[in-house]
Amino acid sequence: MNDELKKFIENIPKAELHLHIEGSFEPELMFEIAKRNNQQIKYNSVEEVREAYNFSNLQDFLDIYYAGAGVLLYEQDFYDLTWAYLEKAKANKVLHAEIMFDPQTHLDRGVEFNTVFNGIYNALKDAEEKFGMTTKIIFSFLRHLSEEAGFEIYEYLLDNKDKIDAIGLDSSEIGNPPSKFERIYKRAKADGFFLTAHAGEEGPAEYVWEALDILHVDRIDHGNHSLDDEKLVERLVKEQIALTVCPLSNLKLRVVKDIKQHPLKTMLDKGLFVTVNSDDPAYFGGYVNDNYLSVAEALDLSKEDIYKLAKNSFLASNISEELKEKYVSLVDEFYRANS
Ligand code: HPA
Ligand code: ZN
Repeated sequence: MNDELKKFIENIPKAELHLHIEGSFEPELMFEIAKRNNQQIKYNSVEEVREAYNFSNLQDFLDIYYAGAGVLLYEQDFYDLTWAYLEKAKANKVLHAEIMFDPQTHLDRGVEFNTVFNGIYNALKDAEEKFGMTTKIIFSFLRHLSEEAGFEIYEYLLDNKDKIDAIGLDSSEIGNPPSKFERIYKRAKADGFFLTAHAGEEGPAEYVWEALDILHVDRIDHGNHSLDDEKLVERLVKEQIALTVCPLSNLKLRVVKDIKQHPLKTMLDKGLFVTVNSDDPAYFGGYVNDNYLSVAEALDLSKEDIYKLAKNSFLASNISEELKEKYVSLVDEFYRANS
């Protein structure tokens, strides 16, 4: 790739909409926190940890991801985890970030909700103040657990309605279709939350239909398998439902065999409302700019494609129309000055 395009990608203002904060846990910080908390990890070095990040599918990754999160015990741990991501985001010219967290991952091992939430929230507020970023929090339900288990933690969501804007659905997709969470999504919609759900990452196009028709989501996480169904593509294009695509995640979890076969360019060409995101950057080999760079290189994306993706990232976000306009005008300005 030429240097000019690389700089263009690295510096264009962007939003990140699909990021699991537990997935931004770099091995170096994992060792540091494990040590200060007197927690054992099953690896002897940072290199050994990185070598273990060779996944053959989503479940393979999730097993390691949940184990890694196991050393996080105190509010400061969650603060440090979130702060480390925010520094990377700033360096990647992320002006707005919507961050997912998995309360059940921590509650189920005895860590209190407020320990988790306050650490994450305080880091986000500090980034807003120090970096001028804007942020949102997505409270994600683990789909391998029951809907009842989801309702058991619903009170935490309501208690923090002034601080949490959205819900999500993540973890093991196949065998856990969106329809399993119909009642919780109905409730969250009535309560005014913005709705997102992972669908069509490993699961079939049918799961994307369910996310639209049964959960009534505002945005789809991943959505790759939508391309298997022309009628679904038509629907997504017509309604301009955003997909938060994560190229390096797709490569590492073998949703695509080769980055050259990644469908992002096809998605753009079909008129799908796509955005580029990092998902779990510590595990998948890169932050948001690395994701843009990898597809730009592999799929020969143009400056216009990158401009469109950056603009989409703000347009697909859960912020006010006014703020969207402000951010889009920054992207426009950058594009004009650099084309
Ligand atoms: N897919 C599903 N669940 C997840 C992921 C993912 O990529 N990352 C963290 N939880
Ligand atoms: Zn994800």
